[in-house]
Amino acid sequence: MKIGVIGTGYVGLVQGVILAEFGMNVTCMDVIEEKIERLKNGELPIYEPGLREIMDRNVQANRLKFTTDIKETTENSDVIFIAVGTPPKNDGSADLTYVLEVASNISMYMNGYKVIVNKSTVPVGTGKLVESTISKVLTERGVDHSFDIVSNPEFLREGKAVRDCLTPDRVVIGTDSDKAKEIMKSVYDVLYINQTPFVFTNVETSEMIKYASNAFLAVKISFINEMALLAEKTGADIQEIARAMGMDGRISPKFLHAGPGYGGSCFPKDTKAIVDIARKYGEEMFVIEAAIRANEKQKYKMVEKIRFTLSEDGDLTGKTIGVLGLSFKPETDDMRDAPSIDIINGLVAYGANIQAYCPEGIKEAKWRLEHLGRNIKYMNDEYEAAKEAEALVIVTEWHQFRGMDLKKIIENMNDNFLFDLRNIFSKREKLLGNFKYYGVGR
Ligand code: UDX
Repeated sequence: MKIGVIGTGYVGLVQGVILAEFGMNVTCMDVIEEKIERLKNGELPIYEPGLREIMDRNVQANRLKFTTDIKETTENSDVIFIAVGTPPKNDGSADLTYVLEVASNISMYMNGYKVIVNKSTVPVGTGKLVESTISKVLTERGVDHSFDIVSNPEFLREGKAVRDCLTPDRVVIGTDSDKAKEIMKSVYDVLYINQTPFVFTNVETSEMIKYASNAFLAVKISFINEMALLAEKTGADIQEIARAMGMDGRISPKFLHAGPGYGGSCFPKDTKAIVDIARKYGEEMFVIEAAIRANEKQKYKMVEKIRFTLSEDGDLTGKTIGVLGLSFKPETDDMRDAPSIDIINGLVAYGANIQAYCPEGIKEAKWRLEHLGRNIKYMNDEYEAAKEAEALVIVTEWHQFRGMDLKKIIENMNDNFLFDLRNIFSKREKLLGNFKYYGVGR
């Protein structure tokens, strides 16, 4: 089976590499020449544990190649995955410009039957839009090639993308065509024979499954964060609450970790997009809208907590705050909608100077937080970030922070405030006694 993947962003690249690993012949195409050049040289444009090795292996085995040529990619592929971005527009709706542009480019070069698979997260109804875009171009060209549209949403988590793709919880295939369904089964043959659960459904249902799943997880996080705010005031412990709640099989313990709010490329964007889609159909998504508001409040609450703990009137002028973890979650360099951005902006707005450290996020943070000028410095490790600081704030739970030498940290600091916004430290940790320690919801 010959596969084309259009778009080498997070989703496209991981998809292409993993399909090659499954034994397919894969061509990954992108319009950005520099990116393709780097990929050809074996360089990964993203940080994703384990991906590089699989990529190298499959390039060497001649199953994986990179190109900027859409014509060649279309002509040589039986199945074409569209994996380009759907960035949010100002009103929160998903911008489909790139998806439809790709659809029309593919149809310019279609030379026979193709299965067109939508991997990008797209509003319900996009499958039909892609179909009509392709049909229109084919009619203009005066050719009569048949094709089928499939929706195959991606559920991978950044930092765990390789594992999520090799052993997914489920594969969702939405199509109205039996022929396309059989072809998709053979694309994912390895998973199919390994008894990964498959959901075969229509295009619209599949498109909505992706939004419903992401929105539900976002709601779950906002729910536990809201409980954490209350737990803190009542003297309850959110971690014990979440643990006990999670023992109920109907609730499950996953995605019940209280923190500074969710971020990343999916939850903030997709929750807003589904609210927008619903509005277009005359429905209001009260629950999801509340989750979005609670998430904004959560980040604001973190800033407030730090401000009024460090200073009676909330003024942070002259205070130095060390921040650990900038990426929206561990094991990624991705800073999209990272809670650290709002939290750092908030602290600086009240006069603080920031000393930030993140294992992978600094490069992106430098341009996203460029406006902060000299109010933010980037440090080489957690100890430098703590140096002469009044407070240390853990925003993202990189594993290495759990193992840091707390004695050395405190020796470096000017005061001893520790804000653990991810609750990474157990209350039994003896050295915590030396800090003025504040978790979330406990
Ligand atoms: C998410 C979905 O999990 C994935 O299925 C989808 O395809 C893309 O969006 P991702 O954004 O990579 O994946 O990260 P995820 O691990 O889901 O975390 C998202 C955000 O929620 C992070 O900011 C994380 O810190 C936060 N989170 C997650 C919590 O605050 N508490 C939790 O219990 C879980």
